[in-house]
Amino acid sequence: MEDLLLVILFLFIVLCFSLLGVSHLFAKQERKNLPSGSMGWPLCGETLAFLRPHRSNSMGNFIQQHCSRYGKVFKSHLFGSPAIVSCDPALNLFILQNEEKLFQANYPKPMVDVLGRLSLLISSGELHKKLRNVVVSFITASKSAPLFLLLVEKMSVSMMDSWKERRKIAFYKEAKKFTLDLMVRNLLSIEPEEPLAFKILEDFETYMKGFVSLPIYIPGTAYAKAVKARERLSLTVMGIIREREQNISRDREGDFLDVIMAKQSLSYEETASVVLDLLLGGYETTAILIALIVYFLGHAPKVFERLKEEHQAIRKSKEGGKPLNWEDYQKMEFTYNVIHEAMRCGNVVKMVHRKAVKDVIFKDYFIPSGWKVLPIFTAAHLDPTLHENPSEFNPWRWTDHKEMSRKVMPFGGGLRFCPGAELAKVEISLFLHHLVLNYRWKIKDDDDFPVAYPYVGFPRGLVLDIEGTEELVGNKN
Ligand code: HEM
Repeated sequence: MEDLLLVILFLFIVLCFSLLGVSHLFAKQERKNLPSGSMGWPLCGETLAFLRPHRSNSMGNFIQQHCSRYGKVFKSHLFGSPAIVSCDPALNLFILQNEEKLFQANYPKPMVDVLGRLSLLISSGELHKKLRNVVVSFITASKSAPLFLLLVEKMSVSMMDSWKERRKIAFYKEAKKFTLDLMVRNLLSIEPEEPLAFKILEDFETYMKGFVSLPIYIPGTAYAKAVKARERLSLTVMGIIREREQNISRDREGDFLDVIMAKQSLSYEETASVVLDLLLGGYETTAILIALIVYFLGHAPKVFERLKEEHQAIRKSKEGGKPLNWEDYQKMEFTYNVIHEAMRCGNVVKMVHRKAVKDVIFKDYFIPSGWKVLPIFTAAHLDPTLHENPSEFNPWRWTDHKEMSRKVMPFGGGLRFCPGAELAKVEISLFLHHLVLNYRWKIKDDDDFPVAYPYVGFPRGLVLDIEGTEELVGNKN
């Protein structure tokens, strides 16, 4: 009995000291000007309110209310950790530029498990550098290569041909098919009509659903299905690598996989992971952006007409339906503004996840080591003190591109700046060329607007009433 009392007394003292320690730490942090805010409920904090879906061309109630109550930088408790949320573009830039010195990528557990330990988004240090170099060399080689431009055009035209007899299309699904087929063809030389392409698309859809699921590994849950789908995707890619090594070669013109296999600096697992990163990075984000542009153009007839004029002029300069080249792409200045404005208004990526690895002081704010840090891009993109009439889709505001780029950062920044940014813009510009020249459209339902779930989706899949313009059939090489 005495022993038990002693143990209880000991535990009580330990508890008191721990509480004292924690309160001392918090007191120290308060003195150091920890941003104000609310820590919400025990355990889940404010995560549910933070993740509540809202129109992606709005900040959402959570951010709006917290910013007006606590200011642009506030504390909270999110994704199981105390967190600093930043809606201040200067702090966002500081966080991204101090990657690995003061901050580190810190994605939620389901994302980490589904992406796999070798994913670029998760890795850091030397491994990140090695994998990123491979990705950057692929993208640099692809983006302006005549073969790639030809492929984008061919796939755009073929998709638009398939709509000829239709009056209605679920556009978001079509955009996803376009971007995935393109990446699978460019990376692995798999043609869209091959059964393997369907298998990859199916596994990818399951994989994507796992990102925002609860990390409960019970057969049947979205999380468990996503982890399995990733394993299958990885095995598919490794199977293709082995096939090539044994020289069971398919008739192909040389693709990305050939390029990295020739380098021989990556293991099987690393190669498969890089391929999945590129598929993941290049597929959904680009499809969302195409759908956002189509959505905004559907509500902005003046912008549509100006865009069409630009593409008519480019098309006129091409004799005999010649394919578009890099110089044509560089002439698409208004298109460039339309793409950037759609990213500002529509917010493909709402935020990125970081953790402070040291105590950080920025301006007046104290960010404690170990806390989660969330730079919210959407807030700066829609801030009325930074943009006049921020909810208006107005590509002409991008005339001063340099000034706008300081306030809008859809591709992140610093060491992790999106390596696919230019590739996405090339794909989208060529796709838009054929779209605006061949079709007009109306958005069928008023309630089919972009929603941040927080990944962007359309409640009805962005159903369009389409009408062919018969102006031009385009390049069919
Ligand atoms: C509209 C299109 C796109 C948007 C808005 C976008 C956005 C982003 C953002 C914000 C990041 C930074 C993530 C972070 O800091 O944690 C990122 C990283 C990345 N993106 Fe993109 N992206 C797009 C298209 C692409 C494309 C086409 C590819 C590849 C073909 C790609 C591949 C990647 C990869 C591999 C990373 C990880 C980079 C690293 O951690 O070093 N993205 N993207």
